[in-house]
Amino acid sequence: MYEAILSPVDYGGIILKNRIIFAPTTMGLSRDAFLTRLRQIARGGCAMIIIGDVPASPWSVEPSLYKEEGFAYYAQLADAVHQEDCSICAQLYLSDSVADDGTGGIRPIRKEEIGDYVSRLPASQLRRYADMFGEAARLARRAGFDMVQVLGDRMLGSLCSTMFNRRTDQYGGNAENRGRFVRECVSAVRGELPQIPVDYKLTVRQEKPHYGNAGVLKEEIPYFVPILEDAGVTSFHVTLANHCALSDVIPSAKHPYFGKEGCFLQYSDAVRSCTNLPVCGVGGLTDPDFLEEQLDSGRISCAAMSRQLIADPEWVNKIRLGRPDTIRRCVRCNGRCIQGMLNRSGVHCMYET
Ligand SMILES: Cc1cc2nc3c(=O)[nH]c(=O)nc-3n(C[C@H](O)[C@H](O)[C@H](O)COP(=O)(O)O)c2cc1C
Repeated sequence: MYEAILSPVDYGGIILKNRIIFAPTTMGLSRDAFLTRLRQIARGGCAMIIIGDVPASPWSVEPSLYKEEGFAYYAQLADAVHQEDCSICAQLYLSDSVADDGTGGIRPIRKEEIGDYVSRLPASQLRRYADMFGEAARLARRAGFDMVQVLGDRMLGSLCSTMFNRRTDQYGGNAENRGRFVRECVSAVRGELPQIPVDYKLTVRQEKPHYGNAGVLKEEIPYFVPILEDAGVTSFHVTLANHCALSDVIPSAKHPYFGKEGCFLQYSDAVRSCTNLPVCGVGGLTDPDFLEEQLDSGRISCAAMSRQLIADPEWVNKIRLGRPDTIRRCVRCNGRCIQGMLNRSGVHCMYET
């Protein structure tokens, strides 16, 4: 039973003990509460935890790998997760909602300004930003992370997208140019970490109906996947692109288009058809039988879950013990998780007392 879910896999060079990954999930909890939650999730049997929103830049809202205190914090997370026999990955990202204010601080960028911001940044600045991904990856590795994920959203996604990128230089225009910055970011990571797997969170925009604003248009996947692979990506984590409604990227069960189990697998299918590298699906994955089928058929190599492992961190252990009937299934109500994120009271779940 559930042999595919429980079988190890070579995920771009790292052996994962099973196919379940905790998707990047920023929780807005205190550091201690976040550490406790991560320990719970790791102890629950998943193979890897991806820490969301680790800034590639020295300026940030979140703890910074570049500062002693931030570095020690990430090292503590890595150590805690390893103690529970779970691997850990740092999701490196570059913001396009805050920028360096030139004095070591940050300044906000309003939603309406994002297109102007990414379109006007000097090319020399973009090259420095790409180098920062290399530096942040080196620091993440030193802090104890086993893998790095480059987030192809926010600044990277905006530069890939014709909806934001209006540049007329070598970083704008056709797909080759819009893909130049992400290629440089991945190459910089690969250059620093030749031995470590580099995952890429490929975020997809679709038309008819229109969903997602940043990221790569679905039709452009056959171009972007090989160039990312050439640059050094060793696996893909595929989902809908951001800079649209949160309720589309993290859809509830009532969503008119993404309400079903496995709602974004249509995008990972498109990636799967362009590469032999491992592909991780994400989005509304909760049902062990459904997942076993997707993994067993090779449709996806791994499954990432966010809300389901918040609802029940013991999902994997319960499957291993042959008790899937006792799993507290996430019903994708988007209640205390999303509301908690929006009202800044921290991400929780309706099952919590
Ligand atoms: C509370 C919360 C915080 C999230 N934070 C991040 C994040 O920091 N980075 C990221 O790339 N995705 C983030 N996501 C998106 C998830 O990784 C995942 O793609 C999405 O929730 C769909 O998966 P699910 O149906 O298993 O929840 C977050 C999701 C939730 C629910």
